[in-house]
Amino acid sequence: MKKQSHTVLVAVAILTFSFNVFASTEVHLDYANTDISDKKSLQRGAKLFMNYCSGCHSIQFMRYNHIGKDLFLDDIIAAYEKARVAALSNKPLERGDLVALSRAFDNELTNLDQAKSFFAKISNEEIEKNLIKATDKEVEKNLIFTDEKVGSLIISAMPVSDANQWFGNSPDLSLVSRSKGVDWIYSYLRGFYRDDSRIFGVNNHVLENASMPDVLWQLKQDKSSKEFDQDIRDITNFLDYVGEPAQLVRFNLGIKVLGFLFVLFIFAYLLKKEYWKDVKYGKWRAKD
Ligand code: HEC
Repeated sequence: MKKQSHTVLVAVAILTFSFNVFASTEVHLDYANTDISDKKSLQRGAKLFMNYCSGCHSIQFMRYNHIGKDLFLDDIIAAYEKARVAALSNKPLERGDLVALSRAFDNELTNLDQAKSFFAKISNEEIEKNLIKATDKEVEKNLIFTDEKVGSLIISAMPVSDANQWFGNSPDLSLVSRSKGVDWIYSYLRGFYRDDSRIFGVNNHVLENASMPDVLWQLKQDKSSKEFDQDIRDITNFLDYVGEPAQLVRFNLGIKVLGFLFVLFIFAYLLKKEYWKDVKYGKWRAKD
């Protein structure tokens, strides 16, 4: 028995040692510091992705209008709510308010009186439908550069056979944040360096001899390194969201559940005190 436990200990020691050795030969990854609850970052990331990456990479488990609902709808609803409050309290409407109301009524508005007459004749369901329609339009304008529909899956804009012929296989990125992690993606996108021996004249610190060109070189040149890092952080954040869109809901729900448990704890504690009060003073002590 003792011998067996020795063998186990030695095995554990060897494993720990070899993991450490392997770990130390791995490339250094930078901390991505992404924040999935930062909607603005996710919106910018989505735009950058569609501009710079979707030509080669699909995210085939995601639809355009799903991104719209998750990342853009809240802003459109918030703008409408603000405009509604302003209109109903007879405040002068700013241009943004008129736009927000025009979206909600699906009609061009130019002044407060028009807005008021619309409130009288439009139902909440219709407003909701129109706001979703407006979100789809926003997505079409900002994210779709082909003739695809908002309900389509995001499949690479370049025909697969062409992409493969030119650049080798560009993998689908739906789940890359789960398989590699955000730090890996962030470091990979920042990790391109000049290497004339490669066909695209670049190599990558994180993925040696990667067959992907440095597609963000123009951004790197035009922006300060801080801005460029932020762009990459936004793209990485977006890919993290794509890997598990439910994170947006899960995090919110998690906070509410913890809040609930905390309140429950207070009551449970008070109840416990109430019960044990009697025990402490010996009222319920078992008779011997
Ligand atoms: C010109 C085509 C092309 C464009 C544009 C492109 N990539 Fe790539 N990408 C590739 C190819 C090809 C690979 C495979 C590299 C390899 O394995 O050698 C790759 C690999 C990757 C990987 C690693 C995936 C994995 O599982 O190993 C990530 C992450 C990635 N690209 C992200 C991006 C992002 C983000 C953008 C936009 C900023 C982008 N790519 C733009 C062609 C492209």
